[in-house]
Parts: sequence; C-alpha cells; structure tokens
Amino acid sequence: MYNSKISGLGFYLPDNIVTNNDLEKIMDTTDNWIKERTGIEERRWVKSDSEDTTSVMGFKAAKLAISDANLKNKDIDFIIFATLSPDYFFPGSGVMVQDMMDMSTIGSLDVRNQCSGFIYALSIADQYIKTGMYKNILVIGSETHSPGLDKTTRGRGVSVIFGDGAGAAVVSRELDKSKGILSTHLHSQGKYAKELSVISPGMGTRWVSDILKDNDPDDESYLPYMNGQFVFKNAIVRFSEVINEALQKNNLTKNDIKLLIPHQANLRISQFVQRSFKLHNNQIFNNISKYGNTTAASIPIALAEAYQANLINNGDIIILAAFGSGFTWGSALIKW
Ligand code: UT7
Repeated sequence: MYNSKISGLGFYLPDNIVTNNDLEKIMDTTDNWIKERTGIEERRWVKSDSEDTTSVMGFKAAKLAISDANLKNKDIDFIIFATLSPDYFFPGSGVMVQDMMDMSTIGSLDVRNQCSGFIYALSIADQYIKTGMYKNILVIGSETHSPGLDKTTRGRGVSVIFGDGAGAAVVSRELDKSKGILSTHLHSQGKYAKELSVISPGMGTRWVSDILKDNDPDDESYLPYMNGQFVFKNAIVRFSEVINEALQKNNLTKNDIKLLIPHQANLRISQFVQRSFKLHNNQIFNNISKYGNTTAASIPIALAEAYQANLINNGDIIILAAFGSGFTWGSALIKW
C-alpha cells in the first residue's frame, strides 16, 4: 500500500466578471444584500458566445496542474471529473478532457456529487493510488452554472450565489507513509435531495432561457431550486461534524490545523465554522467574495490559490471540507 499526495494544482476562471451592481440592473437585488447575506462581491459567468464549457475550463485547469506537477500528459493514468453542470447529459465531461489532452485510452470517471464532488473525487483517487493501481490521477472540479440560472428576480435567491470556474489537482503516489492524504470521510442523506436540486429530467447545455422560450415560461422545474435556510442550517452542522471526524480519525485537534479550506458556499457558513472551532483568521481560507459558489470547482480553486500564495508548506495539516446538494458532505485531511 502507498499513500497519495497532491503533486500539482491549477485553476481557470472565465474572464467575464459580473459584479453585484451588474445584477442590480437585471433583477431586484442589491449589492448590500448579497454582500451581507453571502460575502460575495463578484463572480465569473461565461458569456453565451464563449468557447468555455465545463470540460474546456476543466481542461485548461488540468493543463496547469499537470505542468505544476512537472509531469507530461502521458504520465496521467486516470481522470476523475466532478461536476453538476456537464457539457452534455451524457457522455460525461471526463472523456472530453481525455480527448482534448490526447491521453491514449486511459479511463475517465465522472462524479456527480455537486459541492462535495471534489472531495468525493479526491477520495476515489486516493484509493486507487493506495492500492497501487494508478500512479498519477488527474482530479478536476469544473462548473458552468450561468447558462442554467434564472437571472430574473424570480431566481435571485439562487442565482446571485453561483459562479463558473474550474480547478484541478494531480494526485500522485507518495512513498512516505506519514504524508499525503491521511484520511477522507464521505456522507450523504438522499432524504433531502429535493432541497437543492434541478428536478427536470436533464437539460444538457441548452440555455435555460431558450428552453423556457420553447416551453411553458412558468415551468420552474428547469430552474435550480434551493431551500436556502434549510440548506444553511444543515451545512453548518455537517461541516463541523465532518471536520471533527477527520481530526479524531487522525488524533489531531483544531490547533493542528494549518489551513481549513471549506467549500465556498456562503461566507457566513465559513465564519460559523471558524467560530465554532475557534480558528484564527489565518487558519481558514475564503475566496468567495471574488468567485461566488463554484460548486465542485470551489475547493480546487481555493486550494490552488492558497498554495500559490505560499499559505501551504511542507508538513502542514490541511483540511478540505464540503457540504451540498444530495445532501452530500465530506472532508479530506492532508499532511502536505
Ligand atoms: O453550495 C451548496 C450549498 N448551498 C448553501 O450552502 C447555501 C446555503 N444558504 C444560503 O447561503 C442562504 O440561505 C442564501 C444566501 C441562499 C439566502 O440567504 P437567507 O439569509 O437565507 O435569505 P432568505 O432566503 O431567508 O431570504 C430572506 C429575504 C426574503 O425576503 P422576505 O421574504 O424576507 O421579504 C427573500 O425574498 O431576502 C430575500 N432575498 C433577496 N433579496 C435581495 C432572497 N434573495 C435575495 C437577493 N436579493 N438576491
């Protein structure tokens, strides 16, 4: 058995910045409301004529991660792609990246676990590396939320929080058993599946505004639904539980945490978790003000940013934690 480690990171964000003031012009909302309730100041939304799709952005982030790991495409043994907004209903986005990267016929797997998608994907990669089946796995989280959002006042409770973007990590074999991904913890509770969902039977990449034009414009089944307060209340409980689970499993305490990187769902959720663990400001990383909630992409983007800002060094204990639609939640504890 081996350990696994993150050997390279990269992220990509579309150019188009959408500020809260931009949203004030298209729906009944205010910069103040969004900042106070979510911490978000701006997000990236792909333009309708952009070449950026979920798989293209994933590919761009992946190229950077592979180069950061000092590897070549041919060194990658397997792809795991986490997204809730694939280019097509099927096939998944992993095969698109495999083709764009010209990676012979290696396997690729799509993970459909929304905000927890990257943690689930990381956990799968960790198991494959541990058993020795693969040596280097590309793990991608990428989302193109904007085409599916209701950008009218009707959708404001959901659409102001979500952004587009991609992050990627290369997970590689680690020979030092005391280092790398030390544990991962995964959970779900399908009882609450509908509390944050799109219940229509699959839409592919069509813009929701076009779908509604061709159908009943009042049919909300095509739009993301979120019972925000219920999700919020569950999130703060589950985040704390799953962080504790990771600490206990490794006989560590909150003082050992060098950096907690929570899924960027809402700044108030992160602040709640920070307060409940009494973490110093430098023990938690947030970038939601710039990018909003990018679902499966949020952790790899934040991890890559924190790493590039030299906030993560050899031997540091890093905890990644996520909660989201499903409900699904999870954590990963890494000794860097
Ligand atoms: O990433 C996956 C997991 N997702 C999450 O963790 C999200 C968790 N939930 C949340 O982050 C928050 O619930 C939201 C940010 C989505 C909403 O914040 P809230 O404080 O729970 O607001 P609310 O939904 O209870 O709405 C409060 C008021 C309502 O007006 P009334 O009924 O009090 O008159 C809403 O209609 O705020 C109104 N409202 C808005 N006003 C201005 C809702 N959205 C907006 C908006 N701009 N964008």
